[in-house]
Amino acid sequence: METKGTIAALDIGTSEVKLIVGELLGGTLNVLAEGSAPSAGVKRGVIVDIDQTVQAIKQAVTEVERTLGEPIGEVYVAISGEHIQVKDCQGMTSIKGEDNEITDDDVKDVLHSAMVMRIPNELSVVDVLPKTFTVDQQTEITDPRGMIGYRLEVTGKLIIGAKTILHSIKRSIERAGLELAGYVLESLAVSRIAASIDELELGVGIIDIGHETTTLSIYEKNDLVYSTTLPYGGDHLTRDLTYKMNCKYQDAKLAKEEYGVALEALGDPEEKVSYVTINGEHRFEPQSEIGFVLEARLEEIFEMIQKRMTQAGYAHMNSGLILCGGSSSLPGIDQLGKRIFKQSVNVYQPASLGIRHPKYAVAAGMLRYVLSRSAVSKSGFDRAEEKEAVAHGHEQDALLMNEQTSPTRNERPTREQPPKEKKSFSSFFEKFFG
Ligand SMILES: Nc1ncnc2c1ncn2[C@@H]1O[C@H](COP(=O)(O)OP(=O)(O)OP(=O)(O)O)[C@@H](O)[C@H]1O
Ligand SMILES: [Mg+2]
Repeated sequence: METKGTIAALDIGTSEVKLIVGELLGGTLNVLAEGSAPSAGVKRGVIVDIDQTVQAIKQAVTEVERTLGEPIGEVYVAISGEHIQVKDCQGMTSIKGEDNEITDDDVKDVLHSAMVMRIPNELSVVDVLPKTFTVDQQTEITDPRGMIGYRLEVTGKLIIGAKTILHSIKRSIERAGLELAGYVLESLAVSRIAASIDELELGVGIIDIGHETTTLSIYEKNDLVYSTTLPYGGDHLTRDLTYKMNCKYQDAKLAKEEYGVALEALGDPEEKVSYVTINGEHRFEPQSEIGFVLEARLEEIFEMIQKRMTQAGYAHMNSGLILCGGSSSLPGIDQLGKRIFKQSVNVYQPASLGIRHPKYAVAAGMLRYVLSRSAVSKSGFDRAEEKEAVAHGHEQDALLMNEQTSPTRNERPTREQPPKEKKSFSSFFEKFFG
C-alpha cells in the first residue's frame, strides 16, 4: 500500500485483532478499510501464541485488503501494559554541514544520541518523543531544521518496553507478511482522539475497558502522568454470566453483548432472554438480572480503579473521565461511572463510519496520532529501530511529552447507542440457542 498520508494501524487485543487503514482529511479521520478477527493467541494483552496471532492478523488483513483492493505493506502497532516505561531523555550532537544549517540528518543524530541510555538487557527502546530542541543558546525550539548553529540539543521522552513482548509482536507482524512501521503507545494514541487538548491540559482520566485488561491513563498539562493496567475486563463479565445462567461461554457473551446493561435498574424485568443451560434445559433470564450481574462486577472494577487513582493522587480530574474499549459499550456504564467516581464520565467511540464502537478507540487514535505527528518527531520512529539503548540508566518521572494535536469535536460523541432494534428476545435467542 502506498503511504501518501494513508497508514495502517493494528491493535492486537486479547479478544480481537483490529486493523484500520485511514487518512486525515482536513483534520477529520477518514477510514478507508477496517478488518477484525478473534484473537486466540493473546492473554491479558500479551502474545502467548505467535502462530495463532499470525492467523488472526492475516484474517484481518485479508478483510482490509478486500475492501482496499490493494495490499497493505506496513503497519503501526499498539503497545501497552505494565512492561512499558516512559523516561525523560536528553541528547546532543554537533552540526555536520559546512554551512552549519540543521538538516533532517542532524535531527536524526540528536534523537539517536537521546536514545543512548543504559537500560537492562531485557528492555528495548521503541520510540523517542522530542519535546524541545536547543540550538546553541536558543532554547524552546520545536523544529530546528533550517536553522543555523554549532550544537543541537534535545529533551524528550523515551518509550521503553520488554524485548520478549516486543519481539513476539514484531515476529507475528512479519510472519503475517507485513512490515512493522513503528510502535505506538496505546494510551498516547487514545488520548489524541478521545480527549481534547483542553481536557488533556486541565486533567482527564481515560479508562480503556477491554477483554482481559482495563487500563487507566491520567493526563495533566498535556502529559501522561500516571498509567496502570488491571487484569480485568469484559471476559470477567461474561464469566460471571455463565455462572448466573449456567450456560456456555459463547451464549453468555452473546447475552451480554446483545442485551447487557451496566445497571440493574436499566434492565427490563419483563424482557427475558431465552437460552439453553449447560444441562440442556430451556430457560429465560430477565434483562434486569443480567444487569444485576454486570453492575456488580463493573462496580468492583471501577472501585479498584478509583483506589489506584486515589493512591496516585488523582482522585478527581477537572475534565472528568472518558471510557473506551469494547466493554464500555454497555448501556448505563457512564451512569455507573458517575455514581462510583463522583465526577463527569463519558463514553468515547470513534465517529468515523465503520468503526463506531468504543473497541476501535485505540486503532483510530493510532491513525490520528501517527498522521498528525510532526516531521521531527517522526525521526524517532526511524531511529528507534536502528538503535538499541546503552549507557547508564536512571529512574525519572514517567511523564510524556506534549504534542499539540487536537481531536475534532465530532469524534467525541457522548454515547451513540448502537441502534438496538427492539427484537423479540426469545425469538432472537431461540435462533441461536434453540
Ligand atoms: N455491545 C457490547 N456490550 C458489551 N460488551 C461488549 C460489546 N461489544 C464488545 N464487548 C466486549 O468488549 C470486549 C472486547 O473489547 P476490546 O476489543 O476493547 O478488547 P481487546 O482490546 O481485545 O482486549 P484487551 O484490551 O483486554 O487486550 C469483549 O469482552 C467483548 O465481549
Ligand atoms: Mg484493547
